Amino acid sequence: MTDRSSRESNPVQTSELRCIACGVVCQKAEQKFRCTACGDLLEIVYPDWSSAGLDPSTLRDLWCQRRTSKLPVDESGVWRFRELLPSFGDWQQIITLREGNTPLYEMPSCARMAGLQQLYAKHQGMNPTGSFKDTGMTVAASVARRERFRWVACASTGNTSASMAAYAARGGMRSLVLIPEGKVSWGKLSQALDYGAVTCQLKTDFDGCMRVLNEVVQRMPVYLLNSVNPYRLEGQKTAAIELMEQFDWQSPDHVIVPGGNLGNSSALGKAFLEMKQLGLISTLPKVSIIQAEGANPLVRTMRENGGRELISVKAETAASAIRIGNPASWKKAVRVLQATDGTVEQVSEVEIALAKAEIGADGIGCEPASAVTLAGLKKLVKQGFVRSGDSVVLILTGHLLKDPEFTLKFHRGDLFAGTDREKEADILKPQQRAPIVLDATVDAVIRTLKEADDRLET
Ligand code: F0G
Repeated sequence: MTDRSSRESNPVQTSELRCIACGVVCQKAEQKFRCTACGDLLEIVYPDWSSAGLDPSTLRDLWCQRRTSKLPVDESGVWRFRELLPSFGDWQQIITLREGNTPLYEMPSCARMAGLQQLYAKHQGMNPTGSFKDTGMTVAASVARRERFRWVACASTGNTSASMAAYAARGGMRSLVLIPEGKVSWGKLSQALDYGAVTCQLKTDFDGCMRVLNEVVQRMPVYLLNSVNPYRLEGQKTAAIELMEQFDWQSPDHVIVPGGNLGNSSALGKAFLEMKQLGLISTLPKVSIIQAEGANPLVRTMRENGGRELISVKAETAASAIRIGNPASWKKAVRVLQATDGTVEQVSEVEIALAKAEIGADGIGCEPASAVTLAGLKKLVKQGFVRSGDSVVLILTGHLLKDPEFTLKFHRGDLFAGTDREKEADILKPQQRAPIVLDATVDAVIRTLKEADDRLET
């Protein structure tokens, strides 16, 4: 490793923690990452940016050059953009799994389904632990270790816990996971176990886990790694920066994001606003947020009071990652919607299942929570909010293999069997491909192949 790994020649940015409501600047975050004056969330701001001479074309060139470097800090698709992150001093101290660097795919068949000429997906499920959480976790876990915490903790619907457990293990820290019993997919649960987390399944929902954890972190010296931790959001910003690089710094018209605890939409929106401020992009994409009908607090909040006061709900959806009724970052998300002229939409369970299969049929695949983006986009096109010639990017947040049970139930036709959605679910039949059990003979296989070929011809 060369000297360049630990010391940078370019200017290092100072950052501050500032309350999003009263604007008080906190020198150090307390355990719950809340403002000590008014209790609201904190965000990270960079007071020197206007004077630091961050030239857009110099930054773009620097970030591009780092792609050829073999240093861990440059190979990471998060730390490659470190000029827009809190400074770390010694870059050898970061915990990285080479997160980020995720692909941007064209989605021709989904574009047709949605009625668009062209559609893209930025697949954050292609991160090391299979979800977008890794981009934030590399930053916040590195801060936890720098602050000498032995324990890190989160409440989770599954992906945060998988990611946190991995980064804690890599960084030599212990991790505590609180998840709602029976509501986390096996793929995610098994990751947390394998990475060595102490995993507690609480007899409550995600919102209940969050309440318990907020008390635990006040009594015990554990570092909170939920997305109220503003360092998480700084890392998650880099997906938007990388996206703009992939688009040659020309903003798409729309970016569509799933909404759960609303950290990710807040982070992406913050990145777009900062990139505009720094002259890296000249226009803002509209950032729109899609929720499941059964877990729609932001949709209700925007529709019923214009984003002034959170309407919490008792959340229920098979897209378990976004089964959240009391989102922590709702105010940040409302600001992003307002600043980028985005909108909110909600989609039904059947619409989510259909959209997930359609994304799969483009050879990409994702977990159910990610598929709300396509389901929501179809509605936004019908409403005329998105026009057929617009450039649109779906943010796919989790990998298909995160929740194989959902996919198997879908293809076997079991997802809605015996529920009051059975009739509505008839529209899913053309997408269903249940596995076929056959005698182990050549004839049986050839017959099946011919039948399938005939079916696909018609
Ligand atoms: N998509 C996936 C796959 C997720 O895991 C989550 C959130 C979201 C979307 C929503 O993102 O919360 O930033 O609005 N998962 C969290 C977890 C809550 O615990 O894994 P958000």
